[in-house]
Amino acid sequence: MKFFIDTANLKDIQEAQDFGILDGVTTNPTLMAKEGISGDNHVKNHYLAICAIVDGDVSAEVIATDFEGMISEGQELAILNEKIVVKVPMTKDGIKAIKYFSKKGIKTNCTLVFSAGQALLAAKAGATYVSPFIGRLDDISVDGLGLINEIRIIYDNYGFTTQILAASIRNSTHILGCAKIGADVITSPLSAILSLLKHPLTESGLDQFLADHKRVADQNM
Ligand code: E4P
Repeated sequence: MKFFIDTANLKDIQEAQDFGILDGVTTNPTLMAKEGISGDNHVKNHYLAICAIVDGDVSAEVIATDFEGMISEGQELAILNEKIVVKVPMTKDGIKAIKYFSKKGIKTNCTLVFSAGQALLAAKAGATYVSPFIGRLDDISVDGLGLINEIRIIYDNYGFTTQILAASIRNSTHILGCAKIGADVITSPLSAILSLLKHPLTESGLDQFLADHKRVADQNM
């Protein structure tokens, strides 16, 4: 399973890259705004800065909502770097744009997906990735992981190559649930990824190893 980090923060991206488990990055307009990134040149330079840190795919979301605007904006993003994946919302114009990009060999990530029907359309259009939002479904008491499972079954039934990129990840339970179901990718805040490290028995076990070593070392001094 690929681990993408869900942020536009260069420091967090670098920390995840240095950790050695990073396979890519996803951003969205809210995450870019959180970093104070706006304006055509600033946005493009920020995506280039992200591409310079990571080895894998970097999702860059279009702002346009009409087909022509998505095509124009998406093509400008795609030529920035081969790592760029054009992120497009699940709308009628978005599906048309994904089909267009698919025929041109431009990688796409269909985002704001909340149903199996939407995921089926994204695969039919040839999306490289589909981003079902687990956390936002859980927030309204709908089983987000259940959607991942539905999509996995449908995609496997027909051999769709669109990769399930589980998004809106809130915690390690989401990550492990996606791994058990067979999502291709999770995109997560760094905190949720790092929480996979934690177990009280690991911490207490290491403390005991070091205490035992020190006790005997002190005795032998
Ligand atoms: C993917 O990049 C999505 O935009 C992102 O995971 C959404 O997460 P949120 O539901 O926490 O905003």
